[in-house]
Amino acid sequence: MIHPSYAALATGEVYVPGLSAEHVAQTYGIAPHAISKLGSAENPYGPSPKALLAVREASEKISLYPDWTAAKLRSAIGAKFGIDPDNVVCGSGETEVISMLIRAFARPDDAVLMHKPCFPLYRIYANCEGRKPIFVNMGADFDPVMDEYIDALKTHRPKIAFLTNPHNPSGRMVSEADVIRVCEAAPPETLVALDEAYVHYTENPYGIGLLHRFPNLLVLQTLSKAYGLAGLRVGFGISANRDLILPMRHIKPTWNMGQMQIAGGVAGINDDEHVARTVKTIVEMRGYVAQRMQGLSSFRMVPGSGANFFLTEIVAPDLDSTLVFNELLKRGVIVKDGSDIIGLGSRYLRVDVNLQVHMDRFVHALEDIQSL
Ligand SMILES: Cc1ncc(COP(=O)(O)O)c(C=O)c1O
Repeated sequence: MIHPSYAALATGEVYVPGLSAEHVAQTYGIAPHAISKLGSAENPYGPSPKALLAVREASEKISLYPDWTAAKLRSAIGAKFGIDPDNVVCGSGETEVISMLIRAFARPDDAVLMHKPCFPLYRIYANCEGRKPIFVNMGADFDPVMDEYIDALKTHRPKIAFLTNPHNPSGRMVSEADVIRVCEAAPPETLVALDEAYVHYTENPYGIGLLHRFPNLLVLQTLSKAYGLAGLRVGFGISANRDLILPMRHIKPTWNMGQMQIAGGVAGINDDEHVARTVKTIVEMRGYVAQRMQGLSSFRMVPGSGANFFLTEIVAPDLDSTLVFNELLKRGVIVKDGSDIIGLGSRYLRVDVNLQVHMDRFVHALEDIQSL
């Protein structure tokens, strides 16, 4: 018998993705157009049209191996942010870059710092590779309690310190001043990884602007969200310090970016129009749903989200997240059950901000459930 050597297999932790619309339509006998898919933080307007065109053209070339260095994509990203393309590493989604980061910069048993709760893959990948996740609990309404985070940096001296801005699952923001404090307080052996997967939805994105000031800072971004390319799988890491990038480019799977990912990524990263249209709608609808939810008695929106999702707190003691999640499914509304997000628990649901028809359907369904 072959024995797996991965520590994570013993933890049994797996990522639980949002359900697909097809699955819910089939299981509950609901017409596909009557489904509101609010569990995966996807783009309501679909893919960047420019990326779509480029992907179609690139599909003609899929008999050929892609450029394993993804030079065109790294150049496009570098040009966009005024950083040398050699200071960019691309991955099949940001998740691949996170996995490479953990393998490249932490050895077995090294500490990796993160908030609890956080994007589950920091923890799962750290466990998979036998690294030691260290958690900083969040405060009331998911305040990131940055004084405690900085204390933990000093106590545990992690090899990687993850910060997520806006935070997943709460959408809460870490201020620029606090990220600067973290970069300044980090021990010399600590790489600060600022995950900006949802940064386009915030008013003042600042991570890239800090890169030239802090050689220990690496920013992670993805084309899955505001660019609408979640199914294409394009993410990247960027730093002013090449030493934080080269090790990942050395260990990455050789042809990790296919012809369509490279071409679609180049077109997508330059489609400012699509991003602007998406962001405008999300910001409007975030305000709209916040207002609509004020009339609910059993549920409350956790304030302060700068992302395209928010947490709904279940305040009625006789309800819990799995019960409400299942009741919502019956009404064609897919959200994320807090019980499936490590460290979040059964009093919360994570809900996407989307078009008004979906926000209305979600609030109606909650009104219905609270009167059961
Ligand atoms: C905070 C955060 N980082 C990274 C990702 C991964 O994005 P990608 O689709 O690029 O792998 C997600 C996806 O949900 C996320 O929430």
